[in-house]
Amino acid sequence: MNAVQAVIDAGGTEALKVMDRVEQRMTELASGHGRLLGQHAGETIAAGGKRLRPLLVCLCAGVPVPESEGLVRAAVAVELVHAATLVHDDVLDGAVLRRGRPTVVASGGRPVATATGDLLFSRAFAELAATESLEAVRILARATSELAAGELMQRGDAWKTEVTVERYLERCRLKTAVLFRAACELGALETNRELDSLGAFGEAIGLAFQILDDVLDVSGPPERTGKPRGADLLDGTVTLPLILARERDPKLRSIELRAITSPADAAAVCERITATGALELVKARALALVERAKALLPPLPLRQRAALELVAEGVVERYA
Ligand code: IPE
Ligand code: IPE
Ligand code: MG
Ligand code: MG
Repeated sequence: MNAVQAVIDAGGTEALKVMDRVEQRMTELASGHGRLLGQHAGETIAAGGKRLRPLLVCLCAGVPVPESEGLVRAAVAVELVHAATLVHDDVLDGAVLRRGRPTVVASGGRPVATATGDLLFSRAFAELAATESLEAVRILARATSELAAGELMQRGDAWKTEVTVERYLERCRLKTAVLFRAACELGALETNRELDSLGAFGEAIGLAFQILDDVLDVSGPPERTGKPRGADLLDGTVTLPLILARERDPKLRSIELRAITSPADAAAVCERITATGALELVKARALALVERAKALLPPLPLRQRAALELVAEGVVERYA
């Protein structure tokens, strides 16, 4: 992703070195737990991803990024929690494609996906425990618990088209934004400065990120997102594009989500949602959140501020 490359450039060669160490360490951690688990955990990590959260850990620690072992471990821990969550999320959402490849649940089945996610979670906390920072463990544990609550809230609200914008936003905060917050706080912990304000910055861009992910689910295309178009509709997840589109199109108001059963049905509803102009409204909302996030940044050295602003903008650029 170009935006991420630009951020790494802004973070300097140290950022690159630390991110390389993060990759190496994650690959090491995935192995050594039996063939089956090692294979699925390894493939999950090797499939890539934007690595946004570890990048945030690094940049919140400072620019140039400090090349400390503790920082590498914290960045690894956050990305492993993210990876674990995705593996479990795909079980809950019945997803078949992730990062352009079959999901663990699609290729290995539910028991294997459950165990792979569990392994990734456990490796994340073991990695953080090795830093001997109780505060770091507390931060990640809190985020992980909230994330679980967010995922359950999503399942609980499945198929309910009457879900409110407020409730939708709370779900996004829990399932996505809190991990962005934790990433920023863990980075800030390295210098023990500006934890609250950098955390608030993280939460705001995390919220924007999820809102835009929900736009991408409607707009696709799958070649770009690595996920099928309309997947949220097919698994009953009611998101902001649908909520706002329903206010504008009576036909969408009368739609029964459970009647959307094929990718072709989902694509047709995606077209209808797009035709209402809801995607532009949702995108504008996410853009406003990115601006708010930038305004939340504390006074920082110029290079660090520039790099963090680039991350915030990259969240939107992924939509463009
Ligand atoms: C996907 O996150 C899940 C959401 C929070 C929307 P990412 O889009 O960061 O996933 P990867 O790691 O880049 O694949
Ligand atoms: C984000 O929600 C998932 C997590 C935070 C675990 P989604 O369900 O929208 O994420 P994707 O679209 O599957 O990546
Ligand atoms: Mg999902
Ligand atoms: Mg999604």
